[in-house]
Amino acid sequence: MQFEHFGPVDGMQALMAPAAECWRSLSDNPQYQDVLGWLDCRKATEGYVQAVLDKAAQWRAMADTLVVVGVGGSNQAARGVIDALGSRGMNIVWAGNTLSAYELNKTLKALEGHSVVMHVIAKNFETLEPGSHYRVLRHWMEQRYTKEEMADRVVLTGTEGSRLHEMAIERGHLFLPFPKPVGGRYTAFTVVGLLPIAAAGLDVGAYLQGGLDAQKEINSSPDNAAFRYAAWRNAQLQRGFDVEMLVSFEPRFERLGRWWRQLFGESEGKDGKGIYPACAIYSEDLHSIGQYVQAGKRFLAETFLSVKDDGADVPVPEDKESRDGFDYLDGSDFTFINKAAEAATLQAHEAGGVPCARFSVDRCDEYAFGQLYYTFMAACAVSGQLLGVNPFDQEGVEAYKRSMFAILGK
Ligand code: PA5
Repeated sequence: MQFEHFGPVDGMQALMAPAAECWRSLSDNPQYQDVLGWLDCRKATEGYVQAVLDKAAQWRAMADTLVVVGVGGSNQAARGVIDALGSRGMNIVWAGNTLSAYELNKTLKALEGHSVVMHVIAKNFETLEPGSHYRVLRHWMEQRYTKEEMADRVVLTGTEGSRLHEMAIERGHLFLPFPKPVGGRYTAFTVVGLLPIAAAGLDVGAYLQGGLDAQKEINSSPDNAAFRYAAWRNAQLQRGFDVEMLVSFEPRFERLGRWWRQLFGESEGKDGKGIYPACAIYSEDLHSIGQYVQAGKRFLAETFLSVKDDGADVPVPEDKESRDGFDYLDGSDFTFINKAAEAATLQAHEAGGVPCARFSVDRCDEYAFGQLYYTFMAACAVSGQLLGVNPFDQEGVEAYKRSMFAILGK
């Protein structure tokens, strides 16, 4: 995986040494003692990889549909991978992430006639969306399966000692603990991310290896992608670029964009500070926001996410007779056309005064997701500290919850 930025950036070099220091001193900071369980990928999954693989194999043999109940950090990482790579054999349904009656009703209808298993992920088991959906889905399943069948069909993931843990014991479900020292948006390499990915039939080993290799790279050289990216985006902020947009010419990365948006938005938007994270999928979105990016107010920096080998081969057929005006594409492959569009966009946006950077991965596969997730999490931890905020808390999201609970009579 590579990170590059285009053109010199005032102030970036000066942030490289502080970035390395932020990373080095993470574990010495008493404020962060209980939130760094993700730093070592191997430790984040320690003791649970086999249990995850065994459960996934059992589920794949007995069911055709997995409902993952979780919101925010409790589902985004797995959803990003599965959305991009597809599920091999098992239908994955995402629930517990909205309060829309229409969506929940649609989900229940879609489950009819299927053999269903369920993974409920809720760190403290107080969040309204997963808690309420778990109740509805539990009742739905209890009407269709015996107590013994339910025991095998449901896995609960929460904090050890929580009510969710007690419910797992009472009902005989497998309980896979949500590691205490890992906040939701940093759980990509814990059971939270791993079980849905394994149930989808994807390569968990390659995914973990990608994370481990990124971790190794960051710890072996201060001139790594994570530090350079953190320094680059903070230097852009200092120059007045308050918004960063993660863009890709691969629609498969749309959900990864949402994961990235949560990671940086929840980690950095506090104390009146932060870079606002936005996402777009090109070339489609060039036909909506392209005009603004090219020529609107200058507060937007852009990070491209690019794939070297897109794994597909679709040539444009020759057609001399139709005179449709597209003969200049004769014999070109869509990989070439898409790359040309990406290069042209980068060039035009740079020329228009949009600071641009690019992450490139070799392929869109499990390994690349592992690399990207770890690199972004490390970059976020560093970037938040460069900004002067605590990248691991999210007090701000409690404000709307207080009003909502008052209205709902909690
Ligand atoms: O990153 C975070 O901590 C949050 O986005 C949480 O993941 C999200 O709010 C869900 O929390 P819980 O798993 O406790 O329901």
